[in-house]
Amino acid sequence: MNVDSAKMLCSAKTCCLKGSVTVPGDKSISHRALMLGATAIGETAITGLLESEDVLNTAKAMAALGARIERYRDGTWKLRGCGVGGYSEPADIIDFGNSGTGVRLCAGLVATTAIKTAFTGDESLNTRPMGRITDPLRLFGATIDTRKGGRLPMRIKGAKDPIPVEYVLPVASAQVKSAILLAGLNVPGKTTIIEPVATRDHTEKMLAGFGADISISEKPDGRHITVQGCKELKACAITVPGDPSSAAFLIVAALITDNSEITIENMMLNPSRIGLVTTLMEMGADIKISNRRIRGGEEMGDITVRSSSLEGITVPADRAPSMIDEYPVLAIAASFAKGLTRMEGVGELRVKESDRLAVVSQGLTANGVTNRTGSDWMEIEPGNTVTGGATVKTSMDHRIAMAFLVMGAGADKPVCVDDGAIIDTSFPGFADLMNSLGCKINNNGNI
Ligand code: S3P
Repeated sequence: MNVDSAKMLCSAKTCCLKGSVTVPGDKSISHRALMLGATAIGETAITGLLESEDVLNTAKAMAALGARIERYRDGTWKLRGCGVGGYSEPADIIDFGNSGTGVRLCAGLVATTAIKTAFTGDESLNTRPMGRITDPLRLFGATIDTRKGGRLPMRIKGAKDPIPVEYVLPVASAQVKSAILLAGLNVPGKTTIIEPVATRDHTEKMLAGFGADISISEKPDGRHITVQGCKELKACAITVPGDPSSAAFLIVAALITDNSEITIENMMLNPSRIGLVTTLMEMGADIKISNRRIRGGEEMGDITVRSSSLEGITVPADRAPSMIDEYPVLAIAASFAKGLTRMEGVGELRVKESDRLAVVSQGLTANGVTNRTGSDWMEIEPGNTVTGGATVKTSMDHRIAMAFLVMGAGADKPVCVDDGAIIDTSFPGFADLMNSLGCKINNNGNI
């Protein structure tokens, strides 16, 4: 492997993680807050926005569509939106970097407004499937051209006279659901999505908060979500809670190191996002949640985690949507457990920022952990110790980098990742925050 030493990060065995911290704002909510603020009438104020590369790319995209965006010194972001159907045509191609959420949701926003846009991304994003959003967005009347295989770059000619759509989600994907709901905002009539398996519901919740005409009903074939289009959104204030997908790395680090006890304050506890907490508790993790409250329509609370001896379990397929981004770090927890862990129904991991089943499997094997994978499952059979000692190829995937740095905190020998810089797409300050708790992560190999 060719490794650029300036980007490499290593993590060494440690113990006794201690402290009370917060993690940066939730990525899903941050993208959506910018997009709805850019569409609403009036001034939207966002506090706690995640200022990571992915979200900053979405902010730039919203500015390119005509929203006025300002960041204040205290970290508050204020937006003046364009109104439903009011985006202007961007002067250039919009680059979403590494972010599937940014590009897919934004495609929905522009698909029903009569403007032309062109979207691209980095090497990882440009290999990810866009057919899952271009198929339903074409039903509204948008004309969309992609590269072969439905890949980016793509160009979208928004429908001049969009028509309402009823669509059954063929994959359990909040990105697809959200793209369709956002497209429905500028359509005369009702757009309905039928979601056979529930996925994260931040778009629905936030649309309601912005005064959209949205209704949800549970039926035998799934959740029916209907939005009545051509109604203006009203600007509002948003406080972004801590991201449970970022907290996941701290949680597992505390579990696998001796004599640790940490608290993560203000973490979002939306049930559609905390499947990892359920799973780790089934594995025997000592996790306590306190101070539960609801802010801006989202549940949040403080979570205290202590070192625990974990047991392997089978994680059922129907839990996958509520922890879809957490399987890489679950694989690390499972490497330190007693007995076999099996993850079922995780085929979607093959089309994330990397093929996460393949990349996790390679990283585990290189660090002495026996594992097996199939098209949509993974099994981890830990030995007595996790040897560590290898450098893991991150394949432009922030969650692979963070997961294996967590492994290093518990492994016998240090674990390195070839690209620590990619972490900035979702979790700026990751290494500093982990080190403030007692981790030993650095980039000079001197660990
Ligand atoms: C996200 C949805 C998930 C998740 C991604 C963020 C969102 O993707 O993996 O990191 O904000 O809607 P899918 O909808 O493709 O499962």
